[in-house]
Amino acid sequence: MKKTTLILGLFLYLSGSVLAHPGDHRIKHKIDSIISLMTVEEKVKLLHAQSKFSSAGVPRLGIPELWMSDGPHGVRGEINWDDWGYAGWTNDSITAFPALTALAATFDPNVAYEYGVAIGEEARYRKKDVLLGPGVNIYRTPMNGRNFEYMGEDPLLASVMSVPYIRGVQEQGVAACIKHYALNNQEKWRGHINVQLSDRALREIYLPAFEAAVKQGNIWSVMGSYNQYNGQWCCHNEKLLNDILKKEWQFDGAVITDWGAVHSTEEAVNNGLDIEMGTWTNGLTASESFAYDKYFLANPYLEGLKAGTYDEETLDEKVSRILLLMFRTSLNPHKPLGNINSKAHQQVARKVAQESIVLLKNQNDFFPINAGAHLKIAVIGENATKMMTIGGGSSELKAKYEISPLQGIQERFKNATVEYGLGYASGPSAYGRVIDSPLDQDSLRTAAVELAKKADVVLYIGGLNKNHHQDCEGEDRLSYGLPFNQDQLLEEILAVNANTGVILLSGNAVELPWLKKVPALMQAWYLGSEAGYAIADVLAGDVNPSGKMPFSWPKKLEDNGAHYFGELSYPGDSVNVVYKEDILVGYRWHDTKKIEPEFAFGHGLSYTSFELKDFRLISPKTLSEKEVIELSCIVKNTGNCSGAEVVQLYIGKKGSTVLREIKGLKSFEKVQLKAGEQQEIVLKVNASDLAYYNEKQQDWEVEKGKYYLYLGNASNAISFKSIITIQ
Ligand code: NOJ
Repeated sequence: MKKTTLILGLFLYLSGSVLAHPGDHRIKHKIDSIISLMTVEEKVKLLHAQSKFSSAGVPRLGIPELWMSDGPHGVRGEINWDDWGYAGWTNDSITAFPALTALAATFDPNVAYEYGVAIGEEARYRKKDVLLGPGVNIYRTPMNGRNFEYMGEDPLLASVMSVPYIRGVQEQGVAACIKHYALNNQEKWRGHINVQLSDRALREIYLPAFEAAVKQGNIWSVMGSYNQYNGQWCCHNEKLLNDILKKEWQFDGAVITDWGAVHSTEEAVNNGLDIEMGTWTNGLTASESFAYDKYFLANPYLEGLKAGTYDEETLDEKVSRILLLMFRTSLNPHKPLGNINSKAHQQVARKVAQESIVLLKNQNDFFPINAGAHLKIAVIGENATKMMTIGGGSSELKAKYEISPLQGIQERFKNATVEYGLGYASGPSAYGRVIDSPLDQDSLRTAAVELAKKADVVLYIGGLNKNHHQDCEGEDRLSYGLPFNQDQLLEEILAVNANTGVILLSGNAVELPWLKKVPALMQAWYLGSEAGYAIADVLAGDVNPSGKMPFSWPKKLEDNGAHYFGELSYPGDSVNVVYKEDILVGYRWHDTKKIEPEFAFGHGLSYTSFELKDFRLISPKTLSEKEVIELSCIVKNTGNCSGAEVVQLYIGKKGSTVLREIKGLKSFEKVQLKAGEQQEIVLKVNASDLAYYNEKQQDWEVEKGKYYLYLGNASNAISFKSIITIQ
């Protein structure tokens, strides 16, 4: 062997390798030998925070610090070492990507991968080892203040969209951290509420996206949630962490707490937690300067180890998981350099944003609006100018720039006269409001209505925002209706100008009492740096909308399954919340109970039209649970511009012995087609994916018998139905 090869081999051996897998002997051996050199004090140091977003290393042995960052829509601005203030760096402005609900609405796993790569590159450049995202808590109720950070109501959609995000991030030598495990489906009382639900709902609805992250995404870290499950805190929950995550799913990464979510050293030690991070510096409920030694997994653990209360084997297991995390990230000699705010990242942000916008209603082709015409356009609503990357809690971003919808419209509609009226005001300017008005609410409304009167077209840009009690961490919304008196404003605008299109920016459904009167409605989420450009692209018809609803949009709150059962079911009695709708979350509830939603899961219009035809079952009509169900159909663009359609396959059990949803999403595919073009789509589903979770056997079971297949382009727009039998 040549000397250079030998040296290179030795270098790789010593410095880690791309194959940082525990099954890899060299890594395992290396980790074991490092652990054998460590003192107990050094080991314990790795297990808890030393600052707001880092844990300590062991300089003596070359073990680095571990650096984390929020997540999940961009790499958060640098926070001070010992308090929550911004550090005031001038080199930490990033690309803000669309919020994850928008990503889910693309129904496009390819753009999810591009998103993951881009955000991973930004995190790597910023020297972050762990990116705290994606979030995959299921959208159970539109009141949850944090739904905008998650991937919608369907477990398959959340799984299919988060796995490529995770892969993209981790290819950059940055660990993704799936959160919040588990059942953090509301912000109200999140710090203590105990979630009660059936094993079936847990397994069939709330866990699949986490399971996919582990088994398909090979995720390297998991964040526990604040709430309790089974009467035990989720960050040291024996069933969730030890039994399911680590034993059953064979998760080999590190479990990180949510910030300040630990309540007991003993449980944290024994129930599968690896790293404790904190909101308060003493790990409890107060801040003292540099009090990280008081964390549950700091001195209290160390003392217990010395007294013999805890064994060192458990400690070593945690340390080896953390070292593996390091070999996968900071110690990976092949990790890329990363980059930030590149043109490519901005293009990804714009592409995801364009693809995510959902055209909910479009009477008489109201949209697109002719950008060449000399129109008088009145843009009304605070969300046309409010910065939405600011606020919302820990996902807040320090974006290099954020194009507002108004700016996007002004730049694209050059021939038009664009005038702006705030219409309403939501609160302090510090929260992203760029235009302050000396007028009170009544005067703002009156001025906007005057503007609307004189306009050819009104574009109303409102919705929720990132203020407290809106789409914001820490609390839930207070009402289902639009805030800040927007309904009255819209009614008054519509009374003087019916030619009004509504564009809503939110991460949640809202009540739409004026819906019948507006010709067109568009759901435009929180779209990050390129928001205004993407919105203008769709308004002008440069981009044909192709987003689909990642959650059901109930007409009224009581139509949602969680709310139907009253307070104990949401928000709970402050001690417990009981998921009484069981597995019937979202469209599963609407379908089964025959309650029509305002807009169904999977719904989304286009400027062109599509036809699904020639449905064909390729696999036999009768098959075993080990086989694959395969079918095809042809999608044709029957309109006159190119566009994309999402073909959706739902399957339901006929005559089950247990409660089953009418149908659940089992596969989908987005297809781009030019005008007149058609394409054959083939969808495959493992028959084993039709299993339900048998609570008695504590295992998945595929019931024998007949199943309905439903193929369509929304959960309420089914073009083909067919029956198969599992034998
Ligand atoms: C609390 C949030 O729940 C979590 O998502 C976030 O990553 C941490 N704070 C750190 O900011």
